[in-house]
Amino acid sequence: MKVQRTLPPSAAPVEWRDLIQGLLGLMRPRATIHRLEGEFREYFGVKHVWFVSSGKAALSLILQALHGLSGRQKVVVPGYTCFSVPSAVVRARLSVVLCDVNPSSLDLEFDQLTHMADSTVLCVLATHLLGIGNDVPRIVDLCRQRGIFVVEDVAQAFGGDREGRPFGTMGDVSFLSFGRGKNITCGSGGAILSNDDRIGEAITREYAQLSEESMLGMLKNWLEVAAMQLLIHPGLYWLPAGLPFLKLGETKFDTEFPVTRMDAIRAGLLRRWKERLARSTENRVAHAEQVLKSLGPTPVQTIKPSWRGHSVYLRLPVLMRSRQEKESLCRMSREQGLGVSSMYPSSVQQIAELRETLSSQSVPQSTMIADRLVTLPTHELLSTHDLERVCGAVQGIQHAAEVGSARSSEVQAKPCSTSELPQNN
Ligand SMILES: Cc1ncc(COP(=O)(O)O)c(C=O)c1O
Repeated sequence: MKVQRTLPPSAAPVEWRDLIQGLLGLMRPRATIHRLEGEFREYFGVKHVWFVSSGKAALSLILQALHGLSGRQKVVVPGYTCFSVPSAVVRARLSVVLCDVNPSSLDLEFDQLTHMADSTVLCVLATHLLGIGNDVPRIVDLCRQRGIFVVEDVAQAFGGDREGRPFGTMGDVSFLSFGRGKNITCGSGGAILSNDDRIGEAITREYAQLSEESMLGMLKNWLEVAAMQLLIHPGLYWLPAGLPFLKLGETKFDTEFPVTRMDAIRAGLLRRWKERLARSTENRVAHAEQVLKSLGPTPVQTIKPSWRGHSVYLRLPVLMRSRQEKESLCRMSREQGLGVSSMYPSSVQQIAELRETLSSQSVPQSTMIADRLVTLPTHELLSTHDLERVCGAVQGIQHAAEVGSARSSEVQAKPCSTSELPQNN
């Protein structure tokens, strides 16, 4: 364990006043949840909102409701996404069908989707991975004619929009996550949004059967958020980052997760969500732009949506030129506490528990993305010097690769020009 300034890959800070609001939520549980529902209805301009225990709980509930409406079985999942997504599909007793991901936009490969979208498909998951928008209207056009629902996965993209339409309002139904490391957090939590009355009724029926979180569960979550509130800061993050049993940032395939209603403490923790979201988005976008500008036209590939809108860059994705380069950069990041992360360790097709079932499906681009994608931190706890160090590391690895040595022991971070980075911190 190295005691040094250590950047978390993605931080959603919580303040003491949020923790107090969490406890106050307990005094007026119903009013706290109703207030949050009303605020989300207004912000998204949707008729129906439900709050649940996590993003994956939200997705499994949505899938059960949609299955009840159409009886179809197949759920189209991006070949490269969070492992919680296929976990929720399997938990809902439905079948995962993979669509490859376009490496320049992280959107679904539209030609492949067009071929797959037949009358056996229940829904397509349009995922705004890392806050970069999918072309949802195009996916909706394709699916509508074929009786397929479009579920927007906004777990990493709360706050983004496309020409003024917030992510989460373009598909038939969508979900958000308030897990750690998301745009804003209450420890763990999720929300479902829909404007469709038929889907609304089906989800309301499923939601009515959910139990409440236990008092012990609520307090445990509150304590975890309180601990995170302290340790998330770069001056202290070396401590949790150096404890492997915490498994920070690990993504796992697990179908045994709780599906409950959101409790009043979590809802109270989200009391100042608008303010926190605005600050989070402003910083992430500004930092992503600074890093993109500073990296310039480099041999690494940066990823952007193909349409006009506001991506929120939960983290900034960069495709390195090889797996070796990616591993060198991640190693350097661990040694120097730079918060560069390798995201998901494999494509969905290669998840051990699914490999057999999905063996006949092929998602070569998703495999390539898993091999080469790194994400750079963009959150509000970064200083200008931190951004310089991160850019310097990426450039140092490239430089080393160019001179024929990508071994991290020989690699030095290249100094990155401060003049390229506006002094905002
Ligand atoms: C793209 C994506 N979808 C769904 C989820 C599930 O959200 P949660 O962790 O709240 O269950 C996540 C969480 O990491 C995610 O990143």
